[in-house]
Amino acid sequence: MRIALMTLFPEMTGLVTGFGVTRRAIENDRLSLEAVNPRDFTDDRHRTVDDRPFGGGPGMVMKVEPLERALSAARERVGPARVIYLSPQGRPLTQRKAQELAAEPALILVAGRYEGVDERFIESWVDEQVSIGDYVLSGGELPALVLVDAVARLLPGVLGHEDSAAQDSFSGELENLLDCPHYTRPEEYQGRVVPEVLRSGDHERIRRWRLKQALGRTWRWRPDLLEARRESGWSEEEERL
Ligand code: ADE
Repeated sequence: MRIALMTLFPEMTGLVTGFGVTRRAIENDRLSLEAVNPRDFTDDRHRTVDDRPFGGGPGMVMKVEPLERALSAARERVGPARVIYLSPQGRPLTQRKAQELAAEPALILVAGRYEGVDERFIESWVDEQVSIGDYVLSGGELPALVLVDAVARLLPGVLGHEDSAAQDSFSGELENLLDCPHYTRPEEYQGRVVPEVLRSGDHERIRRWRLKQALGRTWRWRPDLLEARRESGWSEEEERL
């Protein structure tokens, strides 16, 4: 997948390109992430990308012209792509949304700064607005990188173990459930032992224990998620658990 990030702070892409799973995805040509800086598409001496808001008020608004030119450049780099503006006004980023976006050949992500971008840019060019939660950050870069990370690990061949992504919280058999607890060696640590079932080698018992743990934690910590799961249909097994 090819991704272009429109940002005034291109160095921030290093958080994704420099580390771990996403870095490997880039090295293995499963993913490309390039920054396009609207400041490179200004035509005044000061390279102005923002201006005061009509109607008054605090803060500045990103100007439409540099954004439009940067978008054309981004399209040239990644080809036809869905354009996503990161904003608290957007639809929530969920695992399902990440899966949907992972099927796209290319994405252009627009990170705003200041009070946001001129609404006319959004109306003309943005396909969709996405939010990473009900809080306000000082720019769209971190949300964009969160989205890139969530999508990248779903791309074919990116995660080592074939099933890792399918077994995450929120997907596959565990759709809309929190993850179960995990343990590694030592078997006993400061008097606390790893649950016997996980050492039993009985795969069916282990599967049921994990599902039960996931259901229990979700019931305690995120009952709102159970509602969504009930709506999409419990299994008979869960009904019993
Ligand atoms: N920009 C600022 N805050 C944001 C958020 N919560 N989600 C997406 N983009 C944002």
